[in-house]
Amino acid sequence: MQLSGKVALVTGGSGDIGGTIARRLGAAGAHVIVTYIGQAQAAAETASDVEAAGGTAGALQLDQRDPAAIEACIAAIAADPGQLDILVNNAAWNIGIPFPQLDDLTSDIWDRVLETNLRAPFLLARAAATLLKADGGGHIVNISSAGGIAPGSSSIAYSSSKAGLNHLTRCLAVAMAPEVAVNCVAPGLVEDTRMAKRLPDAVSAGARRQAVLGRVGEVEDIAEQVMTYVTSTSITGQVMVVDGGMPGVMR
Ligand SMILES: NC(=O)c1ccc[n+]([C@@H]2O[C@H](COP(=O)([O-])OP(=O)(O)OC[C@H]3O[C@@H](n4cnc5c(N)ncnc54)[C@H](OP(=O)(O)O)[C@@H]3O)[C@@H](O)[C@H]2O)c1
Repeated sequence: MQLSGKVALVTGGSGDIGGTIARRLGAAGAHVIVTYIGQAQAAAETASDVEAAGGTAGALQLDQRDPAAIEACIAAIAADPGQLDILVNNAAWNIGIPFPQLDDLTSDIWDRVLETNLRAPFLLARAAATLLKADGGGHIVNISSAGGIAPGSSSIAYSSSKAGLNHLTRCLAVAMAPEVAVNCVAPGLVEDTRMAKRLPDAVSAGARRQAVLGRVGEVEDIAEQVMTYVTSTSITGQVMVVDGGMPGVMR
């Protein structure tokens, strides 16, 4: 199997997309560690799905708004299993606030979104750098959003956090080369996910209407793009939009 002997950390593995990425990496032979913040049962189900398919997995609680908790999480992995080859920065938080409602976007909401969606991926990459660079090098895959390319999605804070994550990808690709490849998947609307259900209806309907392929994304599409990145040795600093082809996001 392509990822036999590799260890992957998938943040937000209790969520819809993170759970699917974890199962996909596990099916390719990786030992998968998923994080969650509140949904321990969902994280345990992801891990047991990986094991039921013949793989190995574990789950760790992590509030990634807390820098000390990030350090402790990576220290726990350094202690056991003592290896990390793939970091998927998938966890994120959103809340639906239509863009024109500026007064509803409080500084507390802004901080929660930016700390979870942008600061934490940097802190995780920084904490994991030594492990990722060992044993021939590794991969980071960030999960951003098409809303980080064109202004849209659940809120101004979310869209801005994902724009930052797209550029963080490029900055880390330079900073962590040549040992670590850093890439990003930018999903558009992903059907049947909790996060998509928190989008304003007009945003979801607009995405479905504009997708030139006649469909938006599904969780498996995102997991397949993650697999493409982590099995490549020649791609870094890239942001791949997976959204069914929305003209406003084609750059
Ligand atoms: N769904 C979409 O349509 C869509 C579109 C574009 C981009 N994306 C991106 O895809 C990724 C996954 O989205 P999803 O749809 O799978 O979302 P989801 O089902 O809501 O999952 C979000 C995950 O993040 C975790 N999380 C939230 N706050 C956290 C914190 N402070 N510390 C640690 N973990 C935290 C959650 O943990 P608990 O389960 O324990 O709460 C959950 O595992 C995100 O980066 C999202 O921005 C999604």
